[in-house]
Amino acid sequence: MALPIAVLLSGSGSNLQAIIDKIEAGGLDAEIKLVLSNKAEAFGLARAKKHDLPTAVLSHKDFPDRDAFDAAMIEAIRAAGAAAVILAGFMRILSPAFVAAFANKILNIHPALLPSFPGAHGQPEAANYGIKLSGCTVHFVDEKMDHGPIVIQAAVPAFPDDDGDTLGKRILRLEHRIYPQAIQWLATGRLKLEGRKVRLSDADLPQADMSGAGPCLINPALEQGF
Ligand code: GRF
Repeated sequence: MALPIAVLLSGSGSNLQAIIDKIEAGGLDAEIKLVLSNKAEAFGLARAKKHDLPTAVLSHKDFPDRDAFDAAMIEAIRAAGAAAVILAGFMRILSPAFVAAFANKILNIHPALLPSFPGAHGQPEAANYGIKLSGCTVHFVDEKMDHGPIVIQAAVPAFPDDDGDTLGKRILRLEHRIYPQAIQWLATGRLKLEGRKVRLSDADLPQADMSGAGPCLINPALEQGF
């Protein structure tokens, strides 16, 4: 049975699009029961409507506090029949009550290699720091921001001429690949939580990778002889 999910967003929704495309291509065993935005103008809502997906707008500004807003979201998500929550550019911090309501069933994607550069400006902060490798992280959501157990990370090179935009675009392309994969692992029950560690069951990891002798990303590239 497909995993019933709610996708929460505040903006463009390109990650939502990647998830929709993967579901429609038959590669992701999930069903989007609700696309929920805290912003009525979020382009992600238009993407959802184009694919006849149910949408809802709940503005945090209409609620007296975070707990009241989160309680309304919990109700909407449950009423839609979703069992898991996929954060895709949702720019609100979730309360402990929300996290508990969908315990170990909330995923987030962050545009940096956590625990480096958490928060809303991961791409420009990494670029300005002069980092050589950055990337993206899919993680379970716990009560701290950008903090929960990590499911998958992907790395890209960063260059001296990068700014948040150029680095962010490079990262986003990988986000669109790793997020549907992480959701598929969740949907098929393959993610086992062991404290902070996430074990992927039945993963076929080549021995060479375990030894550190397999492929890796080094930037700038090593010159001959190193
Ligand atoms: C992505 O960079 C994601 O990592 C971050 O918010 C952005 C959402 O982009 N959490 P989009 O709305 O999916 O295009």
